[in-house]
Amino acid sequence: MKAALAALLLAAWPGPAVLAEPAPPWADARLGPDRRAELAVAAMTLDEKLGLLSGQFGLLMKRQRPGEPRIGAGYVPGVPRLGLPELFETDAGLGVANSPSMRPGDTATAMPSALATAAGFDPALAFEAGAVMGAQARAKGFNVLLAGGANLTRDAWAGRNFEYLGEDVWLSGVLAGESIRGVQSQGIVSTLKHFALNSQETGRYVLDARIGEAALRESDLLAFQIALERGRPGSVMCAYNRVNGPWACENDALLNGVLKRDWGFPGWVMSDWGAVHSTTKAALAGLDQQSGREMDLAPYFGAPLKAAVQAGEVPPARVDDMARRILRSLFAVGVIDRPPPTKPEPIDAAAGAAVAQRVAEAGTVLLRNEGGLLPLREGLRRILVVGGRADVGVLSGGGSSQVWGTGGTPLRLPVPDAPPELSFIQVTYQGPAPLQALRERARGSEVAFVDGRDLAAATAAAREADVVIVFAEQWRTETADLETLALPGAQDALITALAAAQPRTVVVLQTGGAVLMPWLRQVGAVLLAWYPGERGGAALARVLFGDVDAGGRLPISFPARDADQPRPLPPGLDAVRDARAEKARRGPAPAGAPFDIRGGVKPFAVDYAEGADLGYRWFERTGTQPLFPFGFGLSYTRFGYAGLVLEGGATPRVRFTVTNLGARAGSDVPQVYAAVAGADGRRIRRLVGFERVTLAPGESRSLQLALDPRLLARFDAAQPGWVVAAGELLVVVGRHAGDRVLQGLLPMPALRLRP
Ligand code: BGC
Repeated sequence: MKAALAALLLAAWPGPAVLAEPAPPWADARLGPDRRAELAVAAMTLDEKLGLLSGQFGLLMKRQRPGEPRIGAGYVPGVPRLGLPELFETDAGLGVANSPSMRPGDTATAMPSALATAAGFDPALAFEAGAVMGAQARAKGFNVLLAGGANLTRDAWAGRNFEYLGEDVWLSGVLAGESIRGVQSQGIVSTLKHFALNSQETGRYVLDARIGEAALRESDLLAFQIALERGRPGSVMCAYNRVNGPWACENDALLNGVLKRDWGFPGWVMSDWGAVHSTTKAALAGLDQQSGREMDLAPYFGAPLKAAVQAGEVPPARVDDMARRILRSLFAVGVIDRPPPTKPEPIDAAAGAAVAQRVAEAGTVLLRNEGGLLPLREGLRRILVVGGRADVGVLSGGGSSQVWGTGGTPLRLPVPDAPPELSFIQVTYQGPAPLQALRERARGSEVAFVDGRDLAAATAAAREADVVIVFAEQWRTETADLETLALPGAQDALITALAAAQPRTVVVLQTGGAVLMPWLRQVGAVLLAWYPGERGGAALARVLFGDVDAGGRLPISFPARDADQPRPLPPGLDAVRDARAEKARRGPAPAGAPFDIRGGVKPFAVDYAEGADLGYRWFERTGTQPLFPFGFGLSYTRFGYAGLVLEGGATPRVRFTVTNLGARAGSDVPQVYAAVAGADGRRIRRLVGFERVTLAPGESRSLQLALDPRLLARFDAAQPGWVVAAGELLVVVGRHAGDRVLQGLLPMPALRLRP
């Protein structure tokens, strides 16, 4: 039986197609990925190994191989002699990314933002969304997805928050892990990125992120660790910034120490594009592959690495290790045994859109609903839709994650006041338009639209309507942070005026994270759609009319004021402004001057003084009331929790029952928090468990959640390892981070766990 299977596998080996030649020893899948990788590396020359370690900017393929359809962010040559594949890499945090310069006209499902996915609190759905991205990347011929963004959102103003899964360790870790598992279920490698502490865009190429080791282990690193354990990504992408001194991509403590030694990561570390600063130092610190080398100051892992090996600075065994790690992941994930097509195949756009819609629906958060304004009743005479380009499309975030959705890209606008380095990014709206979806759903009602620029006309129309739905938007992008959480332009004034004219005003927010809401108490309802992806309009229409519950919960805290954050403004703004001014003063760089991604920005440090107490933990520590707490979200029905049972031990468990007490079906996310002593002995709540449930009216479900003991522990850097103190921990079950419906004491024995 086994022999027959082996014969089949060997027959399917996609390597050198010379039938007469025997299959190479690593073709035998029974050997396991480690042994197979070892055997393949043993057959490679030094130059072949070095080839695998040096990636180029994907766009260059256009010139090098005209007609090549697999143009993405990166390309790494394979070893054709041995049947080892080239790597075609594409960004894919929110769907298979594209830009007009890469694959003109090529579309993929535009998923909702990662924050929207996180707001679903639904690991199974995160897996499904990952599987859609993996399947579509595969169909397009890519075999490595630059996905799996898992940085914690430490600062509410950060430009890339929409690409991440929020501020909580457990939520981010679980969802990133499931999304990666989904991608890799399609035989495509996923990264986990950006390792670590790439928490802001301002000065990301130069800043030194400073934080204590225990605090880092208990926060950002624990999220990565959980994601790594669940998702088993083939690759981890190291970040642009420095971490406590060394650059993230030559950080021995992080790469060799934490990732490879403590966590036993068997895959490869690839650099972010332009994040490499050395040859020997990086190679010895644990970087395995330079990506997009044209974006670095030198091709550090090409000829310079060969020279370093020949000079005895980098042992040949380390080069073997680097190549082995890459091949090991390709074998483990299935890239080599089940290669993607070399010519693109059509994607299943309908299946992708269906998942995108479910993610958008699950992640829509109802923040306010006075007098049951929502769901909208059927048969309204006149609905007025205002602003937010709701007549055109849904907003998406900018940067390398940008997708060209299958619903079209009806509008692209230049970035307001963009410095030259942002000229490749555009404010992009994806179709179809929410207005169209609302018209289709609001059968029998007149659905009118005004853009809101004429305030008098908008308020006059609002008075005539039964309900006003005003779309407000906050655009974010990779490479820039916000300087305030206030809605840009005149949107606050528009909302205030509409609410004064029409009490039945619903605000729909399309944002890449938190926004300020000075008008909150004047409006009837607020629905947070995030960047909802290409089915955002349809999802919104269903939520507005109550076809589906508003089941999302906030994966981030919403501060009431800019000043209520650990860092009200992005550190380093001055350094970036100074560099731009200097550049403008100097005029265009002389022809042939080396490209420096750092753009002359002077180095600076960011001190993460809040340590592991970020987000809701920071609000609790400082006694500040957020506008909306982490975990918050209303439903169209009501849920009750009862019967709390707590069981301590090495795998602590929490049991309770959730019941839908209302008259309609709905979704809830009961959350379990434990108050755990931090560095100063003060007990601060941490999310230790959650479960999303959808229940019929009157239906109950008993939940049993196993708690990861590391969430109840402190990290002891001296040991090193996790330490749970013996004693009783207060555990509460609630609807958000500031809530308490049930509570009890969890008896814990003293535990010591490996790092
Ligand atoms: C981003 C990464 C991305 C890479 C390739 C970088 O600028 O930080 O997230 O994967 O570019 O496009």
